[in-house]
Amino acid sequence: MITQPVQVQNSGRQYLPDSTTDDLLELPAGDRSPNQFLLPLTAQVNRDDCLEIGGCDLFGLVQRYGSPLYVLDEETLRTACRQYRDAFRKYYPGESQVLYASKAWNCLAVCAIVASENLGIDVVSGGELYTALKAGVDPQKLYLHGNNKSLDELKLAIESGCTLMIDNWLELQTLADLVKGKNPVRIMLRLTPGIECHTHEYIRTGHLDSKFGFDPNQVDEIFKFVSQQSELEFVGLHAHIGSQIFELQPHQDLGSVMVQWLSKAAKYDLKIQELNIGGGLGIRYTESDDPPSIDEWVKVVCESVVAACQSEKIPLPKLLSEPGRSLIGSACVTVYTIGGQKTVPGIRTYISVDGGMSDNPRPITYQSVYRALIANRMSAPIVTQVTIAGKHCESGDILIKDAALPETRSGDLLVVMSTGAYNYSMSSNYNRLPRPAAVLVNQGEANLILQRETYEDLIRHDRLPERLK
Ligand code: LLP
Repeated sequence: MITQPVQVQNSGRQYLPDSTTDDLLELPAGDRSPNQFLLPLTAQVNRDDCLEIGGCDLFGLVQRYGSPLYVLDEETLRTACRQYRDAFRKYYPGESQVLYASKAWNCLAVCAIVASENLGIDVVSGGELYTALKAGVDPQKLYLHGNNKSLDELKLAIESGCTLMIDNWLELQTLADLVKGKNPVRIMLRLTPGIECHTHEYIRTGHLDSKFGFDPNQVDEIFKFVSQQSELEFVGLHAHIGSQIFELQPHQDLGSVMVQWLSKAAKYDLKIQELNIGGGLGIRYTESDDPPSIDEWVKVVCESVVAACQSEKIPLPKLLSEPGRSLIGSACVTVYTIGGQKTVPGIRTYISVDGGMSDNPRPITYQSVYRALIANRMSAPIVTQVTIAGKHCESGDILIKDAALPETRSGDLLVVMSTGAYNYSMSSNYNRLPRPAAVLVNQGEANLILQRETYEDLIRHDRLPERLK
């Protein structure tokens, strides 16, 4: 009998103490997608009562690669890519292109995997662009974002041949000057659509009071300016309204708002080629999270754009989207090793692990809630509620408050689920902790995709002035 809360992966139900192993091993039903599960799709329990992902048991992985460890499941990531791609094919009669918002997790291997699934990539800095190029991604499928791109970033983008998502006036003018008399560059304009959605205020971007994008009241002026620049090839419009969104209505509204602006652009003789609707679909972090499937999200987006184009009587643009979290969030878990414990009588028990806010800054930044399990004793009954503390010198470094777990021992492997998005990419060396390694698992094979940092790495960029030696 499996008594840890992992069976929600397959049943989608609340944790039931009497669920059986069969519930756990049941394959995902119908068109449910990875973003609706707590664990990667390949998760199963082996004969040693240990959790396996991608056919690799987590105990073995930690022995080989150390702890903490990010374990990324290739099949889950590829499944999410295919579900997006297939859904656009199913619901959109025109051309479409899914871009992976690589801010969720940008590294060579992840860029290469998503590109091999025919996804393009959205990058937001010279560093992300550089990584995607080094991974061999076709520049024609790269789109550079950013609300304050440096001159060097603009130049790298121009040189690479990627599309630039223009965010503000200064950037538009700087770029126009940079490319004068040169080959045209492809640009899209990012607008702030004025659409509210229910998510954490730090990750809301579509409301008018946002640092991103042009104020829609200025569209006439912008369209006029762009139409006069022969070196700026206007490709279309972009908007992104926020992240970890469970409602479908905001994206339905977004489709029609954006198409109205496209239709306005056409009046300035700007050739409409593409419309980028952003990302934002949420994922399941806890049993009570109930995000729509990838298929449902794509359906709403496509139907809204198609209907709006019909009513505006404009041809269907190539439809772009930029999911990040829902592509990779559920494909990864972080494995920690449990250390000491401290019980404050009548208050709580703290269990310390060998990582924390440096490998997952989301709890301390957004009060994000995660679920955990003990990977090396999967059938152990849940008997306790403990607080999982990171190892940083910071009281707020708590990964999970009140986690329901079996009895834990020092040396146990604690798995935190749904850590694929915005964990590694937001990680730091706070307290000079080396970043963990990451392994890609698939059909029993594990490949290192991020080497564990060493102490030597930590001082690589330190310089000691002569007089201090
Ligand atoms: N496109 C643009 C322009 C974006 O700004 C973002 C996310 C995305 C696409 C992808 O959104 P997604 O599909 O992943 O929701 N660090 C925060 C999330 C910040 C999201 C920033 N923009 C977190 O950990 O929750």
